[in-house]
Amino acid sequence: MVEEKMKIALRLLSSSVTILLITGLICSCKQQSSERKKLEDPMKKIDKRIQGEVFGRMPDGRDVELYTLVNADGLRARIITYGAIVVSLEVPDRYGKLADITLGYDRLEEYVMNPSYLGAIVGRYANRIGKGRFILNGVEYQLATNNGENHLHGGIKGFNKVIWDAEPFEQDQAAGLKLSYLSKDGEEGYPGNLSCMVTYTLFDNNEFEINYSAKSDKPTPINMTHHSYFNLAGQGNGDILGHELTLHADKYTPVDEGLIPTGEIRNLRNSPMDFMSPKTIGADIDQVKGGYDHNYVLASGGGTLALAARVYEPSTGRVMEVHTSEPGIQFYTGNFLDGSITGKSGKVYHKHTGFCLETQHFPDSPNKPQFPSVILNPGETYSHKTVHKFYTR
Ligand code: BGC
Repeated sequence: MVEEKMKIALRLLSSSVTILLITGLICSCKQQSSERKKLEDPMKKIDKRIQGEVFGRMPDGRDVELYTLVNADGLRARIITYGAIVVSLEVPDRYGKLADITLGYDRLEEYVMNPSYLGAIVGRYANRIGKGRFILNGVEYQLATNNGENHLHGGIKGFNKVIWDAEPFEQDQAAGLKLSYLSKDGEEGYPGNLSCMVTYTLFDNNEFEINYSAKSDKPTPINMTHHSYFNLAGQGNGDILGHELTLHADKYTPVDEGLIPTGEIRNLRNSPMDFMSPKTIGADIDQVKGGYDHNYVLASGGGTLALAARVYEPSTGRVMEVHTSEPGIQFYTGNFLDGSITGKSGKVYHKHTGFCLETQHFPDSPNKPQFPSVILNPGETYSHKTVHKFYTR
């Protein structure tokens, strides 16, 4: 435990090392000694923008770290190294009052279960692959199946269930956390050693950015996303049916009973699926069997960062925009939340008490040649950027 605390402190300090070296050259001895004092006292609040601590201990004895990023406006993101999970995101309302707008748990033991993927990074392939099977370059691969006969969110032990290496950093008007993980050849049935990185950056202009990158030594499908459930009125504060949503997508990928896309790309204008103009999430939800759980085909087509969605919560004035470089977004209204989860501060998560906007490639793409390709080849770099921008109205 003590060793682990020192490790976190040293990582935090390494981001300040360059500054310390330059300062050392130009400062007086007195100033140098005060810098040294920080090194001798590493668990103190070293910098207001980033703090690190131990969040909990895994059953196998490994410690899980928690990093807190704070920006100039008081926004605060807390991230743990288990599952690269965002455990909370505190954002001001129109009067400047902060509330935690993501669903989650208080304790590591609960995140180790986490059947709904609250706050997690999911991969290697987010969303579903039919029967967990696909053919790549003439070889058939069988992935772990964990959702009936299908593969969901990377399988039995996906990226949401592994410990990531963390490296905090600071840059001009931002603080961030770089998380890396090596997914070994054959993990959950996937081919190739995949070295992946997820970087969370909190900017002073109230943008929370997630950058994903990966490289593989064999061709492999990849589709990583972030699985926070948002409630802009504050987690545990009622349902999300009154939130007003705009989704810049005029098509979606219809699914079968097992939520596997049929392969069709369907026009959604003037249907209950249509959010091209602002509409409350609850307006037509009763006309969508089970609630929204669909991949929307973004008008931008992906490739460059573009506005995908805007959500407005009238009682608090909070607005969240989602910009992404991905071609699709899974809009999920927490249909499977059934009151069986007691989350942070004892809040019970009932149906529709949170929504997800998971930026992604389309589900089951490895079996749908008509969808944009998800195959990463050796020598190529997978990259995906999503920005959550917060303001009030
Ligand atoms: C999927 C849902 C699934 C949920 C699990 C979402 O991304 O679209 O179908 O039940 O994740 O938490």
